[in-house]
Amino acid sequence: MDGQSVTRLAPAKINLALHVTGRRDDGYHLLDMLVAFADTGDLIHIEKSKADQFYVSGRYKDGVPLNSGNLVLKARDALREKFGRVLPAVTIHLEKNLPIASGIGGGSSDAAATLLALNDLWELGLGLDELAALGLALGADLPMCLHGAASGTPLVARGIGEELSPVAHMPALSMLLVNDGTAVSTPEVFRALQSRDNPAMPQPAFHSLESLCRYLRATRNDLLGAALTLAPHIAQKLDMLRGHQALHAQMSGSGATCFAIFATQEDAEQAAMALRSKHPGWFIAATRTTGSQG
Ligand code: C5P
Repeated sequence: MDGQSVTRLAPAKINLALHVTGRRDDGYHLLDMLVAFADTGDLIHIEKSKADQFYVSGRYKDGVPLNSGNLVLKARDALREKFGRVLPAVTIHLEKNLPIASGIGGGSSDAAATLLALNDLWELGLGLDELAALGLALGADLPMCLHGAASGTPLVARGIGEELSPVAHMPALSMLLVNDGTAVSTPEVFRALQSRDNPAMPQPAFHSLESLCRYLRATRNDLLGAALTLAPHIAQKLDMLRGHQALHAQMSGSGATCFAIFATQEDAEQAAMALRSKHPGWFIAATRTTGSQG
């Protein structure tokens, strides 16, 4: 931030566990999730300019809508609406490094990073809670992605995703993210759910990588079955990751990105290289998540 421009990472959000525990009267599902944030993601760069502009670059730029349906522009406009006065024009550049509709937060994280960047650039002085309330109107994942973009602290998210609490003793994780390019629609996955009243996620209790993986093996992603009906090959990705000696592998969010946790960063990098040589067209990222601050 130099007064004229701000750059922010919109980190990939990984649902380490996702339990669907009920449904609200308005159709939104009640969730119980354990979420971590990666050091890889999209980039948002915003600078003051004469007129509003929005442009997109990066490997996955082609799927990004450039009109007002884009969550980045919705975030900008939500701030303008709240302040009821004209805030200076800005040029927003989104570097789209994460695949679209892939279960790792993409659009929500971009919008969250935009809210944080504009709060700084326009010197609005809004706190995280105020930004989260504004963000929730744009999407259920927005509040948690805001915390992710602000600090990266791992979280438990409940409600429809907006009741957040930090998780203690989560180590930074060496992780591989894999997606073959299939976009999966979140509303369609929720519609395909067979069971909406499932047991809650066990209370997070771990102190080490080993105990975290033991804990994760007792959790689920309740959207996996529904996602498999829409994109059956997700099962092969999970098998493949487990075959590379991952400590734990699961699908993130509504899919189709799968993640695998490895003992070391070298193991994650090696698995990434092996998979990339076989599947050059896939999104394959060896990354590290942010650990708990306490
Ligand atoms: O809130 P967002 O627009 O990101 O959610 C996309 C869709 O996912 C919603 O329209 C809804 O169909 C589904 N969803 C849900 N329960 C949640 C979050 C999302 O049913 N907690």
